[in-house]
Amino acid sequence: MLEVSGLSTGYDSHVVVLGVSVDVREGEAVAIIGSNGAGKTTFLRAICGLLPVSAGDVRYEGRSIANLAVHKVARAGISFVPAERHLFPEMSVAENLALGAFPNRPDPDQQSLVFDLFPRLAERRRQAAGTMSGGEQQMLAVGRALMSRPRLLILDEPTTGLAPRLASQAYESLAALRTLGMTILVAEQQVPLVLGLADRGYVLENGAIQLEGPSAELRDNPTVQRAYLGVV
Ligand SMILES: Nc1ncnc2c1ncn2[C@@H]1O[C@H](COP(=O)(O)OP(=O)(O)OP(=O)(O)O)[C@@H](O)[C@H]1O
Ligand SMILES: [Mg+2]
Repeated sequence: MLEVSGLSTGYDSHVVVLGVSVDVREGEAVAIIGSNGAGKTTFLRAICGLLPVSAGDVRYEGRSIANLAVHKVARAGISFVPAERHLFPEMSVAENLALGAFPNRPDPDQQSLVFDLFPRLAERRRQAAGTMSGGEQQMLAVGRALMSRPRLLILDEPTTGLAPRLASQAYESLAALRTLGMTILVAEQQVPLVLGLADRGYVLENGAIQLEGPSAELRDNPTVQRAYLGVV
């Protein structure tokens, strides 16, 4: 579904991600693991059209989307949930969800799907987004991303700022979304959680892929255990 090959990107002339190849098959959940500053956000932003692809290619459902404008990437069926969430704090939950469908009108069926996945959002549909708890704002960010009816959901560190219990809940919701057929690419530092969701993963360090494999293999890998699982 998504085939990233030899992708390089960065900021002005400063290359941060160099020659990274990642693929995601339809229905899979794939993890990008890496420590602070590894280049996870930079990599995901380049896929979504938020940063220029300076080398390599991004192919989605058979066609290149490299350097396509953000709204065209979204229209192709990819939705991005940034770590910062970027909600409109003064607007209600329902209004934030409606904006996720823009430029289309919000689809009531899709809104029902979001409310089924996150009953808390249904209860609080009239509450201002900025007054929601951290966990609720995370649900809203995912819910809003779903309103454009994506086929591929890309999330950047969905556990950002969440206490452990809420971080686990966030991953339970993603697992529920998978059972509905959603394809997921997720960057995460909370390795046990993300490997519980993902079929496969890639370890990104210093802007390059250091390791890749099925989640079970990564979990048993001594390098992963030392760097991310606190095993000495
Ligand atoms: N706007 C920017 N301008 C210049 N350099 C940047 C910019 N944003 C990030 N960088 C640099 O790019 C590198 C990779 O950063 P990035 O945010 O992609 O890492 P990350 O893996 O997402 O880290 P974290 O887990 O902390 O979010 C870092 O060295 C960072 O300082
Ligand atoms: Mg990041």
